[in-house]
Amino acid sequence: MPDRLRRLARPAVRLVRGRRREGLRDELGFWDSYLRDCHAEVCDPESWEAAFPAALLPHIQTVAGEGPPPSILELGSGPVSLLAWGVDQGLIRVTAVDPLADAYAALLDKHGCSYPVRPRRGDGETLSGLFEAGAFDIAYSSNAIDHTASPRRSMEQLARTVRRGGIIFCEGFVREGSHEGWWGLHQHDLVPEEGHLVEYGRDHRRTVLTDGLGLDCVQQEVRPFTERSLTTHGHAWPPEEPGDQLHHDWYTLVWRVSR
Ligand SMILES: C[S@@+](CC[C@H](N)C(=O)[O-])C[C@H]1O[C@@H](n2cnc3c(N)ncnc32)[C@H](O)[C@@H]1O
Repeated sequence: MPDRLRRLARPAVRLVRGRRREGLRDELGFWDSYLRDCHAEVCDPESWEAAFPAALLPHIQTVAGEGPPPSILELGSGPVSLLAWGVDQGLIRVTAVDPLADAYAALLDKHGCSYPVRPRRGDGETLSGLFEAGAFDIAYSSNAIDHTASPRRSMEQLARTVRRGGIIFCEGFVREGSHEGWWGLHQHDLVPEEGHLVEYGRDHRRTVLTDGLGLDCVQQEVRPFTERSLTTHGHAWPPEEPGDQLHHDWYTLVWRVSR
């Protein structure tokens, strides 16, 4: 970019960076309060099975071989990964990545929470700086691709980390950005369309996140969030103020890597 254009773009870049910093602070504040109130429940292995994405199990079986359990890269795990049950059962090995990993580790320690998955610090957009291409059997992300600064770049990087024949499994709220009033990290609307994950920006710009990545869709579903049976791990909703989150659509999209 020429210097003059770079100078003109500076205020907009500063605004976006400032908004992201604030969004990450809000995210951390949310998990701090959540763990303060609910650490006993979420650190109890009893709560892990219901939180685990049951729809992932057949895909784990598909990629499992004779050797060690399949390796999964989880993007944007938060402090308490939804995959804990699978790790506890010895079904999978999980490497979780989250930009707030260090702060989450401090929170878990502060609230006296021991947990079988501890994320390491990283961003979806720069996974190639952390992992070799094709390093994992499966990539998994719940409710996090739309929290990244660049969902397209994050999907490209996620696809790169999975070996040929491996699986990418994404789930989350449909159109979370507009549903949350474009507040904090909620700057993108994601929608499943004909086997692709599509982003609509605040400016209505449409970007197909999975185009050209060598992914064959093997499952696409949109169901009310209530059917995901997730009532712990930050998804508890006080019965006296149910909000419309429970009736919000939740997507599941799964691809086999064919490139
Ligand atoms: C709503 S939480 C989802 C937590 C968990 N996966 C779940 O479904 O309960 C979104 C997570 O995405 C993380 N995140 C934000 N920006 C990210 C990025 N660029 N790359 C990876 N994760 C990111 C946040 O720090 C946060 O932990």
